Amino acid sequence: MYNKLMQCLRSVREKTDFVPEVALILGSGLGDYADGIEIVDTVDYSDIESFPVSTVPGHRGRFVFGYVEKTPVVIMQGRVHYYEGYDMKDVVLPTRLMGLMGAKKILLTNASGGCNPDFRVGDLMMITDHITTGVPSPLIGPNIDELGLRFPDMSQVYSRRLHQIIRSCAQECGIDLKEGVYVQFTGPNFETPAEVRLARIWGGDTIGMSTACEAIAAHHMGMEVCGISCITNLAAGISKTAITHEEVQETADRVAHVFRELVTKIVVRM
Ligand code: HPA
Repeated sequence: MYNKLMQCLRSVREKTDFVPEVALILGSGLGDYADGIEIVDTVDYSDIESFPVSTVPGHRGRFVFGYVEKTPVVIMQGRVHYYEGYDMKDVVLPTRLMGLMGAKKILLTNASGGCNPDFRVGDLMMITDHITTGVPSPLIGPNIDELGLRFPDMSQVYSRRLHQIIRSCAQECGIDLKEGVYVQFTGPNFETPAEVRLARIWGGDTIGMSTACEAIAAHHMGMEVCGISCITNLAAGISKTAITHEEVQETADRVAHVFRELVTKIVVRM
């Protein structure tokens, strides 16, 4: 795996020598965020040797390098999902690669279904912790000693320092930011109402199909991690209607302008 990562890194380095400080993985609705920054370089995933390529419509596949104000960033435009059929190690390969490119901090965003009854469709939730009981750990397999420990501590995956920054940025944007626990399931099917009740009993506030695995891989290699989830729908059983990808996309697009403003504020200060 380390050799594969190094091959990817060499492949990227043949195309750009840009060194990012912050890595961004942007979920539904924020796919075009990168188009609004000062772009220095782009590298298509398909041009990186051994790199997993996304198959989901609407997810573009490339790294965008550039500046959000003065902060050098790398944006993963289009993430890789476990439900596409990749091994979990490949799902987090891009996260690790961005870390190896030099990014010390990472901001993860996603769309999710709210299982906390106090949440409303369109709410933004700062991820304070996560549950990945429903998916394999990306750290299964031989440990990559060059990156981190065999048995890494997960008591504080999401940085307290970044929490403070996110709270104050949200306040400045006039956003009523929620906070809570993100539960990752595999997808691609949405959950049953019984699975949603389970997630709630576990202590989850919102459910999605990404992010937590990326947070584990990033934390493992010592990156400072934070994440924000857009509640695009109420989870199954709480929602009075069937959940559709269109509903998820529609809410994500509707909230995108506020989310974008928040992301910019956070990145500049993180
Ligand atoms: N469940 C899982 N993933 C999701 C959901 C959901 O309800 N909404 C958006 N992503």
